[in-house]
Amino acid sequence: IPVDPFDLVVFGATGDLARRKILPALWQRFAEGQMPPEARIIGAARTEQSAADFRQMVSEAFDEFMGDKAPEPAARADFLDRLDYVAVEATGDEGWAELAAKLRDGVVRAFYFSVGPSLFGPLAAGLGKYGMVTPETRIVVEKPFGNDLETARALNQTLAAHFTETQIYRIDHYLGKETVQNLMAVRFGNILFEPLWNARFVDHVQITVAETVGVGGRGPYYDKSGAMRDMVQNHLMQLLCLIAMEPPHKFEPDAVRDEKLKVIHALDPVEPQHVVRGQYGGGAATPSYRDEVENPASTTESYVALKVGISSWRWKGTPFYLRTGKRLRSRASEIAVIFRDPPHSIFGEDAPWKANMLVIRLQPDEGMTLKVMIKEPGPGGMRLKDVALDMSFAEALGDDMHIPDAYERLIMDVIRGNQTLFMRGDEVEAAWAWTDPIIAHWQKFADRPFAYDPGSSGPDEALKLIHLDQRSWREIR
Ligand code: BG6
Repeated sequence: IPVDPFDLVVFGATGDLARRKILPALWQRFAEGQMPPEARIIGAARTEQSAADFRQMVSEAFDEFMGDKAPEPAARADFLDRLDYVAVEATGDEGWAELAAKLRDGVVRAFYFSVGPSLFGPLAAGLGKYGMVTPETRIVVEKPFGNDLETARALNQTLAAHFTETQIYRIDHYLGKETVQNLMAVRFGNILFEPLWNARFVDHVQITVAETVGVGGRGPYYDKSGAMRDMVQNHLMQLLCLIAMEPPHKFEPDAVRDEKLKVIHALDPVEPQHVVRGQYGGGAATPSYRDEVENPASTTESYVALKVGISSWRWKGTPFYLRTGKRLRSRASEIAVIFRDPPHSIFGEDAPWKANMLVIRLQPDEGMTLKVMIKEPGPGGMRLKDVALDMSFAEALGDDMHIPDAYERLIMDVIRGNQTLFMRGDEVEAAWAWTDPIIAHWQKFADRPFAYDPGSSGPDEALKLIHLDQRSWREIR
């Protein structure tokens, strides 16, 4: 179903995120017929260039980042026709009037701030000064939303001076991933799981976001952030919230976000001994973290594992183990809910325990596995074994089914005016309020991360973190 006509302005249109994610996502929505003929996309950035140059740049980005999914020439030309470009100086006056003149009245206006947070304020002020903020206006802001509680608060205040909360769409692209939305479908669309979804029946939860890439060209940003700020404060926190939250009364923005916020408020402060930080060393073909960020003394973590407790009736006593890192063995992100043992085994003591497990694979090979016990076939007596009821979305829905990228869903939600999958200001602040003391502790004690080998599953100390509780991580394959 096509969305309403819109003008979408992408600030930072020549940047990496725009070329890699935002514009390809817009193309996909165009190709699927969701973009009405009146929809227009206006690139804005500092670079002086013509609309034709911008179209050429976007076309090249498609070839660079979309591989064999890059659009065919005719359809590509149709899409590129929608694109326009204005050179805008965020902190000056150049280009603003020209941009204002291009916008139409009475249609949805979305401004995507695909720029660093230091430009959020100037962009918001420019839009106000040049009279571009209408009731149909929305802004989309990227992470990092601040660097700690204080800076996040300041950003919220800056934006609040020009926009209402219902106009602000704070992106966490993990919320746009198909399987992440499926997590809610599984929990709240079935009766099977919810009765077991609590500390009485769940032994523990593991959330893993493992990446094979290093920090690449993002060293200057990443070295000031580290895995805690880059991944845990936002992506892993959001996943944790969706697993742990109470059922919202409706699938509506504030109903969902209120429940997520309650989870963040119920998180226990993390004990220093329950956090393990790691930093990758160099490999045969890959530079070390320190070489990559060009900081030989860096103590920033490229890996972090932690044990998190939630003080609520539902979860008290069920630990959530979180880990994420770069340059690990494989790109594998999943959530595993490991259920408790049955109270008594009628089959003898050697029956394998901790058999029931629900694994939600976020990427790659999106899908779900439910592990259950069955009898091992054959006449050898009642021997049990665990088998996987496996569901791959690609197989279940057909190979030619396009699993949309997170950005496709999220950008269309902005146009539709649906904030359910976006973070509210208080949520982001609460997440920082929980993360800040952990980072402050490292700084106070000049904590140094443990080294780990590239292509491994992280530092050995992270194994100990969970082994101490007589549990083990699921293997990163
Ligand atoms: C980004 C982080 O938000 O998410 C990156 O800044 C990380 O460091 C990326 O690589 C991971 O996203 P995805 O969708 O590839 O899992």
